[in-house]
Amino acid sequence: MAHQLFSRDPQQVAPVDTAHRTIKTTIPCPGTAEILARLDETESRSMHGQLPLVWDSAINYNVFDAAGNKWIDFTSCIFVANVGHSNPHLSSAIAATLDKPLYSCYAYGNEVRARYLEKLLAFAGKPFEKAFLLSAGTEATEAALKLMRMHGQSVGKKRGGIITIQNNWHGRTLGAQMLSSNVGQKSWIGTLDPDIHHIPFPYPWETNDKTGLDILDKGLAELADKGIDLATDIAGFMLETFQGWGAVFYPKDYVQAIKAICDKHNILLAFDEMQAGFARCGKAFGYQHYEVEPDLICVGKGMGGGVPISGVIGRKHIMDLPDIGNMSSTHSANPLCCAAGLAVLEEIESKNLIEESRRKGELLFAELRKLEARFPHRMGPSLGHGLLAAIFFYKPGTREADGAFGSKVCELAMQKGLLMVHTGRESIKLGPPLTIPDDAILEAMAVLGECIAEVDADA
Ligand SMILES: Cc1ncc(COP(=O)(O)O)c(C=O)c1O
Repeated sequence: MAHQLFSRDPQQVAPVDTAHRTIKTTIPCPGTAEILARLDETESRSMHGQLPLVWDSAINYNVFDAAGNKWIDFTSCIFVANVGHSNPHLSSAIAATLDKPLYSCYAYGNEVRARYLEKLLAFAGKPFEKAFLLSAGTEATEAALKLMRMHGQSVGKKRGGIITIQNNWHGRTLGAQMLSSNVGQKSWIGTLDPDIHHIPFPYPWETNDKTGLDILDKGLAELADKGIDLATDIAGFMLETFQGWGAVFYPKDYVQAIKAICDKHNILLAFDEMQAGFARCGKAFGYQHYEVEPDLICVGKGMGGGVPISGVIGRKHIMDLPDIGNMSSTHSANPLCCAAGLAVLEEIESKNLIEESRRKGELLFAELRKLEARFPHRMGPSLGHGLLAAIFFYKPGTREADGAFGSKVCELAMQKGLLMVHTGRESIKLGPPLTIPDDAILEAMAVLGECIAEVDADA
């Protein structure tokens, strides 16, 4: 039996019936524990640990279980459903490929892929000229790692060093996991790549009187002490656009200084935009908050609106470094995924979702500031941009992380019809579909306030 953080026993909870939420049975609803038990039997336990909710359907900003309970979704399947769950335009685009019919064509050409890549590059804008499509986010960061190293070799670097940031996250395959710095999750690797270097993240609560630049200088000085020469030993910087668990962005001067170093030493700058991209943070891509031009971006999640598609987008001379056949993937060309990706971009444009994300983000953050003022003994300043936020909980009157408090708030919110991203840490992440109506944001924030008050009163 998997270790269960949340009880699967049905709880009698107060009924809810609003325009945005319905709770009319025990939560979890009857039948949930049985399905989860079947998954325990058949699936690696590593997949388990979420709130005990079995999704039956999802439409726009709502998730439904089999009993017809309805949640306001503040997860977007971890920033996948930016254009809304089961988006009708996306569904028709998928249906059109099924009707054609053309599901798969390996690396042979197909017209929808050509149309999609043209649209994707136009959406990404300058300086991006070519893309390489994949399926999972972790493959995209792996491909960026390969491209940065191939570029380093092409310009005569002695080593293919990659600098990345402590506690950033880039995926679970070998290279991506080595770029990430979650030590516990890396122990299976055994021998780590000596040319992947991690420097400290400039957390706002650690910078104090230091600037982002001071922290960068310190990190780079430590590398210099180890004999690492930026000019000859470093091929790339890989930055997660913001640190996922806490929606923590870097200070702008930190990223701009990295960009200057990259320019000076012929080093490539890549952003991992997996969570940040496709209008999530009030811009087309999150890196635009830093006002720098990267060489590569790694994209996925919201890119397919629920269909698995990911990719690397970059300058032509970098994207064309691998020879014919040296960088391809069975599903790269998948017409169904490309049709979905195209529909996502059309929806972002026709529904003005970049601006909507920015505008609704202001509404969300105004509500979060009110909650921080109401629970100053429990909450720290919320972080994020656009419709992407993290809230932080501390032990009463301290700045000591309280992960258990956050888990309880998430569980209680589920019982009240609000689904949020449970991180297992002191943070909860909020990221509704960008199509959510304003009054559903306000209702969700009222529910969040109720939950914090009740968990606080019980503590
Ligand atoms: C920043 C970041 N990079 C990479 C990944 C890996 O993506 P995937 O799970 O699609 O392989 C994730 C997934 O959560 C992510 O958040």
